[in-house]
Amino acid sequence: AYRAAILRFAPEREPRHAAVFEEDGLLVVGPNGAGMQVVQAVGPYRELKDRVPGVEIEHLPGRIIAPGFVDLHIHFPQTKVIGSPADGLLPWLEKYTFPEEKRFSAPEYSAQEATFFIAELLRNGVTTALAFATAHAESVDALFTAALHRRLRLITGLCLMDRHAPAELLNRAAPDGTLDATEQSLIDSEALLQKWHGRGRLGYAITPRFAPSCSAAQLRGAGVLATKYPGVWIQSHVAENLDEIKWARALFPASRSYLGTYADFGLMRPRAIYAHCLHLDEMDRALMRDTGASAAVCPTSNLFLGSGFFDYAAADRAGFSYGLASDVGGGTSFSPFHTMLAAYYVGREGQTKAGLSLAPQHLWWQHTLGAAQALGLDGRHGAPAVGNLQPGCEADFVVLNPQATPLLARRTASAHSLDELLFAMIVLGDDRLVEKTVISQNI
Ligand code: GUN
Ligand code: FE
Repeated sequence: AYRAAILRFAPEREPRHAAVFEEDGLLVVGPNGAGMQVVQAVGPYRELKDRVPGVEIEHLPGRIIAPGFVDLHIHFPQTKVIGSPADGLLPWLEKYTFPEEKRFSAPEYSAQEATFFIAELLRNGVTTALAFATAHAESVDALFTAALHRRLRLITGLCLMDRHAPAELLNRAAPDGTLDATEQSLIDSEALLQKWHGRGRLGYAITPRFAPSCSAAQLRGAGVLATKYPGVWIQSHVAENLDEIKWARALFPASRSYLGTYADFGLMRPRAIYAHCLHLDEMDRALMRDTGASAAVCPTSNLFLGSGFFDYAAADRAGFSYGLASDVGGGTSFSPFHTMLAAYYVGREGQTKAGLSLAPQHLWWQHTLGAAQALGLDGRHGAPAVGNLQPGCEADFVVLNPQATPLLARRTASAHSLDELLFAMIVLGDDRLVEKTVISQNI
């Protein structure tokens, strides 16, 4: 058990992102039936301490325990692309991203980058991530292997792209020439899915990069796989950039909209996560809601690449689900604090009507429980629960040290409310605030 200040969410309350904060709390963890470390009890120290006699208590004075962060969209092969300036998405892909991703056909390079990537997520307090790899099976194996080793809850899959990029970056044809790249990419996806999905804390995501990089045959095949395996995830990009949208519309003119293309190929459903969702119309938003798909909101990426602003008010009006994501390397930081701050700026300045002030509890929720709900990992229908510290949730958490820097210490000490405290950490926090990341152990 751990004694510290504890932050968690009470999803049964209104609003859904309402946080509960115990100044002097106790978090009791222990194995569930399957041997996973989960939260067994949580609450005020003085109430709980006598209910768990004999349990060893780690005292963490001055520290805050909070749920491990959930990154809903990130690219593992793009850590060396962060901060590469370009005139928008498509030139950025051409000039920096595609050349770097070519290197992941080499297993040693993939392994080296995967080890760094997983360590960097944990150092920043991220304990669950939905990630892109490259079009090379080697990169998928490397990322799953590194995540398994560090026990991160990680979901990834073979990046499907059979056109509109350099050959070394596209899915490969069968070595004996019997199958083309499109057919082979679907066979490889299914083999990787069967090898990794459900192993430890790992999950598979069917991953068409975005409609412009996939032939109709490839999208159709991805949809067939999705039907065959309803428990796996789907991830892609949509409506990020105006030039990208024009291109996607020209390639799939029969669809009602860019988002509609994914629906037409059977790729919208619960556990389908679409990165960006910036330039949607009301019918698209209704489609998100009605299919149960979710948006990965990527504010540092959208500001850096000049893509646009996620419309929170319209999303809430339509009622589809969303969570926060770094989108490294279009995104600029692994730190959930930087991403939450960027989401705040987007809410203030990027709305079509008057600016919103996204509440700090809402920002924090978007990067924890909200993102977990978007993934379907909130304990419903027998799924694991992450992104919160209620009883039954997997014991993934961060230990935050608000004294980590002189300015953080000064500002958090003068916070008069939970909202002020959370805002101080969102505005001033980075990896230094994360003293420790604790991952649920399997005993
Ligand atoms: N759309 C297609 N590929 C990518 C990518 O790697 N990053 C971003 N931000 N958008 C994309
Ligand atoms: Fe992305």
